[in-house]
Amino acid sequence: MKKICPEWLKSAVFYEIYPSSFFDSNGDGIGDLPGIIAKLDYLTDLGVNALWLNPCFASTFADGGYDISDYRQVAPRYGSNDDLVRLFREAEKRNIKICLDLVAGHTSTEHQWFKESAKAEKNAYSNYYIWNNSWLESTGGLSMVSGMAERDGSFMNNYFTVQPALNYGFANPDPAFSWQLPVDHPDVLKVREEIKNIIRFYLDLGAAGFRCDLAPSLVKKDPGKIQTMAIWREFREMIDAEYPEAVLISEWAYAPQALKAGFHCDFLLHCGTPGYTTLFRNEPKRDLWRGIDKSAFYEKDGNDYTVKNTNSYFDAAGLGDAEFFFRTYLDHYERTKNDGFISIPTGDHDMTRISDFRDERDLACIFAFILTMPGVPFIYYGDEIGMRNIPGLVSKEGGYTRTQARTPMQWDESRNAGFSTAAKEKLYLPVDSAPDAPNVAEQQKRPGSLWHKVKELLKLRSDHKALQADGEFELLLADYPLIYIRSKGDERILTVIQPARRDWQCSIALPQGMEKLSALLETGIAAEISDGKLTFSGNGGTHFGIWKING
Ligand code: GLC
Ligand code: CA
Repeated sequence: MKKICPEWLKSAVFYEIYPSSFFDSNGDGIGDLPGIIAKLDYLTDLGVNALWLNPCFASTFADGGYDISDYRQVAPRYGSNDDLVRLFREAEKRNIKICLDLVAGHTSTEHQWFKESAKAEKNAYSNYYIWNNSWLESTGGLSMVSGMAERDGSFMNNYFTVQPALNYGFANPDPAFSWQLPVDHPDVLKVREEIKNIIRFYLDLGAAGFRCDLAPSLVKKDPGKIQTMAIWREFREMIDAEYPEAVLISEWAYAPQALKAGFHCDFLLHCGTPGYTTLFRNEPKRDLWRGIDKSAFYEKDGNDYTVKNTNSYFDAAGLGDAEFFFRTYLDHYERTKNDGFISIPTGDHDMTRISDFRDERDLACIFAFILTMPGVPFIYYGDEIGMRNIPGLVSKEGGYTRTQARTPMQWDESRNAGFSTAAKEKLYLPVDSAPDAPNVAEQQKRPGSLWHKVKELLKLRSDHKALQADGEFELLLADYPLIYIRSKGDERILTVIQPARRDWQCSIALPQGMEKLSALLETGIAAEISDGKLTFSGNGGTHFGIWKING
């Protein structure tokens, strides 16, 4: 039988670090790799055991590092390749795995491959990117850029203008355009080999795997993503053969395709929407904890932004719809659980933070959910203390609205929240200056803080296999509250989460074989078994409870 993942992934909880904003070790105002090393003990103490670092390679930083100019070189502002190796070693001592970001779909226009490819004279790199035959020729409906090269032609960009798409060929090349190469053309096969060698390069240095950027974007005009999936499966086969402990995590946002493409995990982004579709725009109450279409929820008001409440499920108002989420989730889960995992992130560097309109109690409900669900959870740096969006900032390095969720980590009450000793004006982005801005030191000192709740939940997950990635999942109620059972072997664990802030009571039929409940983590919800029924009750101050069944 196919092995779905290396053993370590089943108990992994990832923490995403945006390197520029985590910790600045040398006072230049920008976070760096030695800064991450300095904070590894913090991460161990919190209880995460895996990291995902956004791209930390040489870059033109027009898109926060997703515009790579040299895949094999750490960006000088973050340190050196030796620092990266030191980070791998130090993390290994603490049993922390480190995944890097693999940007396989495009490079920066400053990458050497692109510079060669842009030359008028034909050379080994001419077909590394997608160029038409003349700048006057049709682009065949693709997004293409003209006027940036001596070569007569336009190139296809994958994202921003300065991110030319690497050439993996076309699933169905249009005969009218001779420049649309098939996926097995020898020139485009070379690009795959380049990417495989980059994967090998970092796995050899000690990386544990990769989060794969825009994974569905490789092959162009690829309906059903059939050819793109085949390429990733080829990468996975290489990894299984050469690096069986390594993992591939996709930014695909559609598990039924991604996990068949060979990824070990796929992100469930924009929680609850099926993949990248915009099908459910303007139906924000169906999202679990954040607006789907940001522009619909942020109104510009002079120079300020007013955030509109979205009535998502985890809002304290209790007006959301979990059932809608589970319809998609359960469908994807059932179809993929033998192939790999669905990863639910608290947030990431592209989304707004979860803290809008929420206090620590509300945020704890979200963590209780994410950390008791199947799959491999991801915590975005700072979410463990409820860091806030800082709207209205001038875009930094192509961040635009994403900039608000990329501000420096708030460590303590000292200058620049302990992020950096640089002068305020030199910081990568301003630190949250609100008088009540959360910080790690304060929350560590305060029992019952969000930080402590997250730590307790992480400990619970690590102590109980039923709660880990491959434990079974059985949904009992998708309403207010949310009730489900996780199980593995003889162990069965019941979770109840009530985001709504009100007095409540709820009865369901007693699940089969349930005789008694013993609390593992309790926050005030009362549980009672009587007359073949299971009854829970609580008030506006309570939020979730986790019990061992018959334990
Ligand atoms: C992914 C990244 C995002 C980046 C884009 C282009 O979506 O998460 O930050 O801008 O790809 O690489
Ligand atoms: Ca620095």
